[in-house]
Amino acid sequence: MRRLLITGGSGYLGTWVALLARDGWDVTATYFSHPTDIPGVAWRRLDVRDAGAVAALVEELRPAVIVHTAAVNPGHSADDHDFMAVNRDGSGHVARAAAAVAARLIHISTDVVFDGRKGNYNEDDPPSPLTPYGRSKAQAEEEVRKAGAEAVIVRTSLIYGWRPRLARQVRWIVEAAQAGERLRLFSDELRCPIWVRSLAAAVVELATLDYTGVLHVAGAQTLSRYEFGLRLLRHHGLPPTAAVPVSVRDSGLVRPPDCTLDCRRARSLLRTRLPGVDEVLRSLGDGRSGRPPYA
Ligand SMILES: NC(=O)c1ccc[n+]([C@@H]2O[C@H](COP(=O)([O-])OP(=O)(O)OC[C@H]3O[C@@H](n4cnc5c(N)ncnc54)[C@H](OP(=O)(O)O)[C@@H]3O)[C@@H](O)[C@H]2O)c1
Repeated sequence: MRRLLITGGSGYLGTWVALLARDGWDVTATYFSHPTDIPGVAWRRLDVRDAGAVAALVEELRPAVIVHTAAVNPGHSADDHDFMAVNRDGSGHVARAAAAVAARLIHISTDVVFDGRKGNYNEDDPPSPLTPYGRSKAQAEEEVRKAGAEAVIVRTSLIYGWRPRLARQVRWIVEAAQAGERLRLFSDELRCPIWVRSLAAAVVELATLDYTGVLHVAGAQTLSRYEFGLRLLRHHGLPPTAAVPVSVRDSGLVRPPDCTLDCRRARSLLRTRLPGVDEVLRSLGDGRSGRPPYA
């Protein structure tokens, strides 16, 4: 079996890529601070800030494909230095290591490389990030391009899911509502949330294709943060009154208002479907029971 290396295998998306890839690939996944165990997957510790360690691991394993999910995300750090060291520099180290062994690289990027003024962004729209995280991810894309690896840059949106644990985007809403807090959610910040399982399946499919360049891979439904929150509350049997719509404009915060992605290219390239939130929730049934198909 051909070898596939996942950076950030202990993370939310990385876990799902490992789960879906392990039947068809010889999978090694890396963790940084959370050792993880998934049967059928080999594990190594890796700090992507360490260029020598990245090069040595890739040279040793000589994977056919590297899926680079490792990153510092908003919520884990607000520190510009962390974002740049892990997201920009770490991605450069991974991309150069991939190029050195002619591995195909699937690099995970984000919709917030855009400033959100236009919306419905396609793959040819130039990045214009507003936030420190967005800037680090936009510069990571540049590092990937410069490294000269055979690479796909997958830009995606809010990742949600329930297994093997609640995704960050779900957890904070559910936990706050359960604690009786009122959630102030933006009604004028638009995204295309994607179910982790469909994103991971798209990534695993991309590992087998020869497409290179940028690809927008997000869910089919545009929702505001508020509309997304209402759906999650309903799915968990929590009262919709826990969420209060607020406006980015009134908040005084600098946030990209409309980072929706045009995913027509991915839809014509991939067999993997990229359903919207309502379709996913319908297919999962009532989440309150906690039983399958609560995926
Ligand atoms: N979550 C979203 O809504 C969202 C939206 C758009 C794009 N993305 C992108 O999608 C990708 C996956 O996101 P996610 O939510 O699955 O991330 P996540 O759950 O926060 O996982 C991050 C992963 O990166 C690893 N990591 C952190 N610092 C590291 C370092 N210095 N060296 C090596 N590994 C390190 C973590 O390891 P440990 O846990 O072991 O420390 C973990 O495995 C990221 O590239 C992110 O930017 C995410």
